[in-house]
Amino acid sequence: MTVRPIITLPDEKILRAVSKPLKSVDEHARAIFDDMLETMYDAPGIGLAAIQIGVAQRMLVVDLAKDGEARKPLFVANPEIIWTSDEISDYEEGCLSIPDFYEMVDRPKEIKLRFLDRHGEATELHAAGLTATVLQHEIDHLNGVLFIDHISRLKKARVIKKFQKADKLGKL
Ligand code: NI
Repeated sequence: MTVRPIITLPDEKILRAVSKPLKSVDEHARAIFDDMLETMYDAPGIGLAAIQIGVAQRMLVVDLAKDGEARKPLFVANPEIIWTSDEISDYEEGCLSIPDFYEMVDRPKEIKLRFLDRHGEATELHAAGLTATVLQHEIDHLNGVLFIDHISRLKKARVIKKFQKADKLGKL
């Protein structure tokens, strides 16, 4: 397992790519899953999509275990949201690709998800609350969507500018 560099703003070129479905969850895919998990724990974060380490495959990992609790990783390949609740909830979201920026985002409160697990088994999951939010956030990544796409245009423009500026300063 290797901690890989996480791609962050302003590098939108890779983050905006649409990831491709996995043909099967083989040893190679499991090795990527392991690196993703290690990278997420190291950050630390509660969710990571493969594209965030530059792998354009429809894979994500989530672990909502709190400090001191046993780790409870969820490995998700080729996810498909097959149902969403009408009820909406809002959470203050952040993203390892947009460090130190947090904003409230509205999303369906519950979802039903169909995906392949770490062993390639077809699985269904009914998720609610924070789990549902994190899964939707990570699935967005697979489609090149960032959580700042769900906030006001002004706030989004401001945060993108902030990262562009920081990048320029870093390159001087
Ligand atoms: Ni994210």
